[in-house]
Amino acid sequence: MVDEFIVTPWRVEGKIDYARLIEHFGTSPIDDELLNRLIRDAGEKHHLLTRRIFFSHRDLDKVLDDWESGKGFFLYTGRGPSGPMHIGHIIPFYFTKWLQDRFKANVYIQLTDDEKFLEEERGLTLEDTRRWARENALDIIAVGFDPDRTFIFQDTEYIRNMYPLALKVARKINFSWVRAVFGFDMQTNIGMSFYPAIQVVPSLFERRRCLIPCAIDQDPYWRVQRDIAESLGFYKTAAIHSKFLPPLTGPVGKMSASRPESAIYLHEDEKSIRKKIWKAYSGGQPTAELHRKLGGNPEIDVAFQWLYFFFEPDDVKLKKLEEDYRAGKILSGEMKLILTEKVLKFIEEHRARREEAKELLHLYMYDGELAREMWRKIHE
Ligand code: TYM
Repeated sequence: MVDEFIVTPWRVEGKIDYARLIEHFGTSPIDDELLNRLIRDAGEKHHLLTRRIFFSHRDLDKVLDDWESGKGFFLYTGRGPSGPMHIGHIIPFYFTKWLQDRFKANVYIQLTDDEKFLEEERGLTLEDTRRWARENALDIIAVGFDPDRTFIFQDTEYIRNMYPLALKVARKINFSWVRAVFGFDMQTNIGMSFYPAIQVVPSLFERRRCLIPCAIDQDPYWRVQRDIAESLGFYKTAAIHSKFLPPLTGPVGKMSASRPESAIYLHEDEKSIRKKIWKAYSGGQPTAELHRKLGGNPEIDVAFQWLYFFFEPDDVKLKKLEEDYRAGKILSGEMKLILTEKVLKFIEEHRARREEAKELLHLYMYDGELAREMWRKIHE
């Protein structure tokens, strides 16, 4: 927590200063040298990297050392199934898929139906979160991971194979420590104080280094992991952190289910998507005349920011949009329409793949090569 903004796994509020967050969390910025090395090893650029949306890391250099020496590494990411997924939630998965393709790495995806049940303020039953885990799994499968190198599991179901490791992790963490890291108090239920052990476990699934792509809100778990992993004979996990896709309502906080107008959900219909983007916070002037004269500010224009973040991967096209907006040649409404078409196309394609995912669920969760191996495995 820093004075003007808050970033924890449960709350993101205020205008986030990402440079200060790096200092506060004790992570490292991805500098030019590391960026170029990652791109060289991957054999290809990704706009989430070159635009510094993935901006911070822990031990990414060591992951690349391991890859370059032939030892390799594995990827781990996850989702807290508290309801339908929005576009922000799916971004780390698209980036993880890119890493999997480029490095031929195993991917473990944790669905934390336990965590979202334990967060009492959400008011969800365990049946709700278990059902959302299945629904969210379809969105994740729609991203197109390699079915033989990917294992998607839901905590309440896979717990039998995680519990021995969770116990070993839990015994190393005392209450005052998780209270300090996660801000628990004496009213917090005891399930929550155990839960961090469960989110740490998948980072110990292989005796190689783990790389976790996620937004920076999840970093407190990795801090705990890094303090205890070596004492259990595992590697400290590495992580690569992204910024938050800004809410449609303005450049403060993150998208949230309690403010549905702030986000676009993967299941939303065209009419509602058009309406939400049309109402999005804009960096334009109050009237078209003024806008043509003074130009707009793309740094706070949410439509432009969404294009920058995800929806316009072509740097040349993006630069032109930025310049034309600043020069007043593109109006805010026009920027919003450009974004709307991109979002609609993305959602339509995602949804078609989600339909196909229904037939593939068993592969990722039970029958693919990696899934079968994981169900066989019971930790020593
Ligand atoms: P959850 O479900 O809150 O978020 C899922 C993933 O999305 C990231 N994220 C965002 N990324 C970009 N823009 C946003 N506005 C945005 N909001 C959320 C999150 O950082 C996360 O990567 N406890 C976790 C579940 C989990 C997990 C993990 C996540 C278990 N193991 C390992 C990452 C890595 C959760 O509730 O995520």
